[in-house]
Amino acid sequence: MASRLTVLKLGGSVITDKTKEFAPSTETIARIMKEISTTEVESLIIVHGGGSYGHPLAKLYRLSNGHTNQTQILGFARTRQAMMDLNKIILDSAIENHLPCISVQPSAFIRTRNRRIEDIDLRIVSGLMDLHMIPVMFGDVVLDMQLGFSILSGDQLASRLAIELGAKRMILAADVDGVFDSDPKTNPKAYLMERMTTQDAEALIEREKQDDRGSDVTGRMMGKIKEMLAAVEKGIQVVVLNGCVPGRISNALTGRRTIGTVIER
Ligand code: IPE
Repeated sequence: MASRLTVLKLGGSVITDKTKEFAPSTETIARIMKEISTTEVESLIIVHGGGSYGHPLAKLYRLSNGHTNQTQILGFARTRQAMMDLNKIILDSAIENHLPCISVQPSAFIRTRNRRIEDIDLRIVSGLMDLHMIPVMFGDVVLDMQLGFSILSGDQLASRLAIELGAKRMILAADVDGVFDSDPKTNPKAYLMERMTTQDAEALIEREKQDDRGSDVTGRMMGKIKEMLAAVEKGIQVVVLNGCVPGRISNALTGRRTIGTVIER
């Protein structure tokens, strides 16, 4: 069963409006859930990001620095609650579309050390999948063995789940068409890289590091690619696509070619 698994990461910029606080993109969420329900994907895990729910609170309480003061404790609680609120919106939409989605809270089975996953117990997630349920997880605030707590991104989580559970494919739904060689917003000649190997990805990451003009768009994307590379190296196909455009997620879920970037070993 494991080799049929697809891990789908829904970026926060797809499922929320990042320009406003606590603004879910309800129509997009509903459309994506409907798309998933029309595919016959056999084994699926969904991980979603924080977008305008988790990030503003995590920033306000400086949670990414780890535990440095007591006011952060309420911030930890508020950030978790915001993620649960967003998770409920997604789950409600999934169930409405007859998807057997089950919310699983990452911090209940994962601890990090200096921001990287160290302890992970997948017995519950595997058990749910054995019953053909779809576990839905999210970027979360988690206990960290060195920093007290930390923020676990949905990207790190998705990549690790794909590796541990032997996924065949990981789909990264963002608000851009895929990986570009430069920032398409400022460079009209930027082109979408339809296929990439690990070497191509490493070269792009290296270039981005050297180029201090590195834009936020490509910079953020490179951070995501870095997280995905460990999975690519294990033979997992990674597809980066625009989740805001109808049809692309369902195409990728069924293994059809779609506009986006395919990263393979
Ligand atoms: C962030 O998750 C979770 C919290 C802030 C608690 P991600 O880092 O995966 O979120 P997006 O996809 O970038 O919004």
